[in-house]
This record gives sequence, C-alpha cells and structure tokens, in this order.
Amino acid sequence: MHDDVEKVLIDEGVIEKRLDVIAERILQEFCGREFVVVVILKGALVFTADLLRRMPIPLEIECINVASYHGGTESSGRVDFLDARLPEVEGRSILLVDDILDTGRTLEAVRQKLADQGAEMVKSCVLLSKDKEREAEVDANYVGFHIGDEFVVGYGLDFRGLYRNLPYIGVLKEDVIGNLA
Ligand code: IMP
Ligand code: MG
Repeated sequence: MHDDVEKVLIDEGVIEKRLDVIAERILQEFCGREFVVVVILKGALVFTADLLRRMPIPLEIECINVASYHGGTESSGRVDFLDARLPEVEGRSILLVDDILDTGRTLEAVRQKLADQGAEMVKSCVLLSKDKEREAEVDANYVGFHIGDEFVVGYGLDFRGLYRNLPYIGVLKEDVIGNLA
C-alpha cells in the first residue's frame, strides 16, 4: 500500500498536532450546548474518530452516507444520499464533519438537508480544504489544512474504495491511478 504513494503530503504527527488545536476551538464553541456530530461517511470516519476523542464533553454521533465521486478522481457533480432514513436533528445544534472540501457540493447539500430537517444550528468541520474555486457557496467553520487542487488519499480518503487506512495524507503514483482507473 505505501509503495503506491508518490509523496506524503501531511504526515501523521502533523495531523495529530492540528487535531489538538481544532478540537480545542470546537470545545470552546460547543461547550455547554447539547449537540450532535454528523459524520459524512465514509471519508470522515477516521478523522472524526480521532477528533472526538479529544473532546471530553457530552455529544451524540450520527452518520450520513453520501456519494459524489462514484469511483474516479473527479467529482461527478451529483450528491446522492444513500440512507433510507436521515438522523433526527430537529431543533438541535449540529457539528457536520467531512474529510475534504472540494467543489463544495457535498457539504452544501448535507448542510441544506439538515437545515430542511429543522436543525437549529449547523457548523461544519473538514480535515482538508482544496484551494480552488467552489461550485457551491460554502465554507467550513473549522479547517484542518489547506491543500492545492490535487487528488489525495489516506486518513479516510479513498481512491476506488482503497487507501482510507493510510495513517497520513498522500498523493498516489500516476501509474497506480492509471492501472486502477
Ligand atoms: P465535493 O462535493 O466536490 O466538495 O467533494 C467532497 C467529497 O469528494 C469528499 O467528501 C470526498 O469523499 C471526495 N473527494 C474530494 N476530493 C478528494 C480527493 O482528493 N481524494 C479523495 N476524495 C476526494
Ligand atoms: Mg467522501
């Protein structure tokens, strides 16, 4: 698996230190508030698990399954909600967590859906934000790292369902993407 990686963009130690900082900021905002963390699966799974273990306050966890990439390295432009039932969020404060802000469509579609379901407040947190023009008017309240406009894997992010379990954020070798595409 590690052999498929061209370069490590953000290593494990750097991610861990950054999570300490973000968790502290979220704690300051959400402390004393009953809130629900909504995890956008599957990409945000690893990030959220590490983040929440730094937040020793009462919170609930819900998950939403969406897909927008459908296998490739470019966003398909469509956000599909894959669950039969969505979490009960009426009147609740939400921290929405995703792995990466790319075109912005996913975060905006989920934020809108939660607002439509009656959520009182929705704040969002992403591990990565690609520096590029968004196709949806959206910005995250908490961002781990800003990166260039390139396709990355690891720490939850996948290519064709693989590499989510890499402990760092990396860029795949071109021939690996070519062979699997
Ligand atoms: P958006 O809707 O274009 O902002 O895309 C967000 C979703 O696309 C994320 O939740 C990821 O699942 C996926 N995605 C975007 N960029 C990458 C990437 O560089 N690597 C892996 N997945 C990505
Ligand atoms: Mg995803």
